[in-house]
Amino acid sequence: MVSAVYALIRYTVFGSVSITQIPMYLTNKSTALSGLILLGWSLNARDVRRRREFGILGLNLIVIHVLLSVGLLSPAYFAKFFQPSGLMTWQAEASLLAGVLSLVVLFWLFLASRSQTKPDRTVQPGSLRVGLGRSVLLLAAAHVALMGYVGWFTPGEWPGCLPPITLLAFVSALIFLVARQSKPV
Ligand code: HEM
Repeated sequence: MVSAVYALIRYTVFGSVSITQIPMYLTNKSTALSGLILLGWSLNARDVRRRREFGILGLNLIVIHVLLSVGLLSPAYFAKFFQPSGLMTWQAEASLLAGVLSLVVLFWLFLASRSQTKPDRTVQPGSLRVGLGRSVLLLAAAHVALMGYVGWFTPGEWPGCLPPITLLAFVSALIFLVARQSKPV
């Protein structure tokens, strides 16, 4: 909800995006950011039930994000992703590759969590699940950095001085990765 309000204020109140683009374009931005944050919470949650709830909700939001993105992926919506020839730029291709790899690892993580029979109260750092969880966040951080880094260093051009969602997503991913790293066994 917070990310939906943020996207609405940044892009329609201070930006030039029309409210007619709430159903897909703006919803896509908020599901992407919320999905990433829920996956970060899941990676850091100690309680198994909480970890699963955040993980499954995060997975659902990312699946919605991917399906909406596939529908939106055109020069009309993302001019910066495409060259005049109609081909994608290397940043856009690399960003989407990182996104797709993150999605695949996320499905592995989902299957690995489901195949676990004995509820495990504490998460062992070296476990497959922690490794997969970290890889999802690292690949998602690369995904948003490759597509958004250009706009990160021009705060004077930020609508309403509000940072881009790609930057918020990148910083969130790093915070969750560092928090997981520093957790005692
Ligand atoms: C676990 C996997 C993924 C995560 C966590 C993720 C997360 C994100 C985040 C946080 C953004 C920034 C949104 C914004 O700037 O407003 C984003 C943007 C985007 N993602 Fe993903 N993504 C993932 C996978 C994918 C995949 C597989 C695709 C391929 C279709 C994709 C396509 C896009 C597109 C087109 C954008 C630009 C949205 C925009 O600027 O409005 N993402 N993603």
